[in-house]
Amino acid sequence: MGKVLVTGGAGFIGSHLVDLLIAEGTEVVIVDNLSSGSLKHVHPSSHLFKLDILDERVADVFQEHPDIDRIVHLAAQSKVGPSVLNPTYDAQVNIQGTIRLLEFSRKYGVKQFVFASSAAIYGPSHTLPIREEFPALPLSPYGTSKYAAEAYVKTYGRLYGLNVHVLRFANVYGPRQTAETEAGVISIFIEKLLKNEQPIIFGDGKQTRDFIFVLDVVNAIRSCLETETNQEVDPVYNVSTGLQTSVEDLLKELCAQLNVTYAPAFEQERSGDIKHSCLDQQKLQKHLTWNPRIALNEGLAKTIAYYQTRE
Ligand SMILES: NC(=O)c1ccc[n+]([C@@H]2O[C@H](COP(=O)([O-])OP(=O)(O)OC[C@H]3O[C@@H](n4cnc5c(N)ncnc54)[C@H](O)[C@@H]3O)[C@@H](O)[C@H]2O)c1
Repeated sequence: MGKVLVTGGAGFIGSHLVDLLIAEGTEVVIVDNLSSGSLKHVHPSSHLFKLDILDERVADVFQEHPDIDRIVHLAAQSKVGPSVLNPTYDAQVNIQGTIRLLEFSRKYGVKQFVFASSAAIYGPSHTLPIREEFPALPLSPYGTSKYAAEAYVKTYGRLYGLNVHVLRFANVYGPRQTAETEAGVISIFIEKLLKNEQPIIFGDGKQTRDFIFVLDVVNAIRSCLETETNQEVDPVYNVSTGLQTSVEDLLKELCAQLNVTYAPAFEQERSGDIKHSCLDQQKLQKHLTWNPRIALNEGLAKTIAYYQTRE
């Protein structure tokens, strides 16, 4: 595979992707401003540019590496709360930042563009699991900016023949995730339990999420990098397990694996939280060579092992 640019390659999902690509012998360039990513997770054989995607100097990256032929665009303002407080900044990073990368793709003849979108674009749905063609009704500026960016990505696909894939991730979890991110509940619970602190459940614990292990997500991205866009199919795919797990059952499983008593504190449900979220993954399974492989108990064991051995 030719040279790949991974924006956000120092982050949770990005750093796992970079590790996989480099292990396969692919040359990787990273653009990351390290706002939530960490140097610790940056593969030493990658070419790191510590830059904001909005920075003019991103042009230098392409001048130094004009042979970048694939882009995985993961860098984002990816938190719901801050998007509500500062929707303008959220739109600048998520919409304008994406357009800038699409423009570089056009100018430098990039062949493949994979864009990280989110379940947040759907909003609440009465019918689960949610399929890609369900209406987008985002409940946050974050969901809206991701949805707008998706539209630009698809426009560049149609206009310039760029091979594009839009991946809507469910709640991703695994090693290296920081407690503040969208699916931080798993890292928050594990950190609390390891410190012998009481975990807090907001609401009754019956709310459900579709938790997907980070390596399954990375394999989905990997699969898109080698697949030409199918002109017959809208290039938008959920990346999920299609399974619902309640927050209560999740915590019970973590307690069982850590051999501690299940005794959470319950606090008031947070406003804006969706009760149930679950995405249908069958379209991705049908059109790309991909299957979610890591069962929740196995993924949780790997995540616990990471937190136990982390310095
Ligand atoms: N983790 C999830 O559950 C989840 C779910 C849905 C969608 N996503 C999307 O997947 C992508 C990756 O998420 P993640 O969980 O790895 O988050 P992350 O915060 O760990 O990674 C994002 C990376 O982008 C970098 N970054 C942020 N803003 C930047 C900017 N303006 N310029 C350059 N670099 C910047 C950060 O430093 C970080 O390394 C994001 O686009 C996010 O919206 C994640």
